[in-house]
Amino acid sequence: GVGVGGGGGGGSLPPLCCYDVHKVYPSGKMAISQVTFAAERGQVFGLLGVNGAGKTSMFRTMTGETVPTSGDALVCGTSIISNMREARTNLGYAPQFDATLPLLTAREHLQLYARLRGATVEDSAWLASDLLRRVGLTKHADKPSHALSGGNRRKLSVGIALVSAPSVVLLDEPSTGMDAGAKRSLWRVLDSERAGRAVVLTTHSMEECEATCQRLTIMVDGACRTIGTLQEVKTWYGTGYTLSFRVSTDDALQSLDAFLRGSLQGIIPVPERGAALTAKYRLPDTTTTRLSDVFTVIEQELAAERSGTGGRIGDGGILEYAISQSTLEDCFLRFAATQEGTQGVDDVV
Ligand SMILES: Nc1ncnc2c1ncn2[C@@H]1O[C@H](COP(=O)(O)OP(=O)(O)O)[C@@H](O)[C@H]1O
Ligand SMILES: [Mg+2]
Repeated sequence: GVGVGGGGGGGSLPPLCCYDVHKVYPSGKMAISQVTFAAERGQVFGLLGVNGAGKTSMFRTMTGETVPTSGDALVCGTSIISNMREARTNLGYAPQFDATLPLLTAREHLQLYARLRGATVEDSAWLASDLLRRVGLTKHADKPSHALSGGNRRKLSVGIALVSAPSVVLLDEPSTGMDAGAKRSLWRVLDSERAGRAVVLTTHSMEECEATCQRLTIMVDGACRTIGTLQEVKTWYGTGYTLSFRVSTDDALQSLDAFLRGSLQGIIPVPERGAALTAKYRLPDTTTTRLSDVFTVIEQELAAERSGTGGRIGDGGILEYAISQSTLEDCFLRFAATQEGTQGVDDVV
């Protein structure tokens, strides 16, 4: 029993449910527009967007740093509008910019936050050691914050967000300033810490999202442009499937082309220079064809070729084939390109 539990409540509701959250700053800037999503227990939910998309505003609204213009969010069933005090007891938050105290060590930070949450001295010492181990900071436990690398300070912030064993953990760009190795270790931390709670992570890295998130939304200009599982988002909004073939003869190339155009609606040949007896096709996101259909069509043809019952391409015409899917990166970059005043993902607002 270390930390403040803050009575669960909410029955089978996901730990975090946001309803139609809207935020217009006094300047008139609309930072969040009708954002509705739920973050499920046991999952990492990704809030993806370029700078200025509204990710931090969303977190600041949920933690009570700023009030939503309209809408509400339930944290373990408790409304942030009617009972922010109670809602906050179930929230852990690592802000985008480190709020660590330069002269305190990593261990001291965790002990301090545990004490602030009501833990005894012994419990906070034990909890600090446990958290240091869980976020991978044991080696740096007794260094003052100012002597930690940027990446290790981010890990400390994640540790602080976990102090109260919250049901909802909000991590605002936790991997900022981390090298590839530190990122991978952070991703492992997220994967083990998601058990029993909802982790919401903001990022503008697709790679990070693919590595960590079970579900995600892509935010553009304050609005969620898509919400779904990683696979769903790729299927709905990816640029589609790429099909590559290697065939035995020029004739087979011709028959393959006719066969694919007849079997897979909307397929587009991708011209490739200097590659003899190979062919590439793209199935765009506008097609209704599913990956399983593509496999079925091609596997049936291969089976017909093999059994000698007259495939449409010719016996042994297809030597090999591969289907690859567009990455979420492709999909995100297309969304990002539509944000107002954005030149690219590195644009700083
Ligand atoms: N306190 C504020 N007052 C006015 N505008 C703000 C304020 N905070 C953020 N904004 C604006 O709201 C938009 C969203 O910002 P933010 O939530 O920080 O996005 P992100 O975290 O995705 O980069 C941006 O256009 C930003 O300039
Ligand atoms: Mg931000």
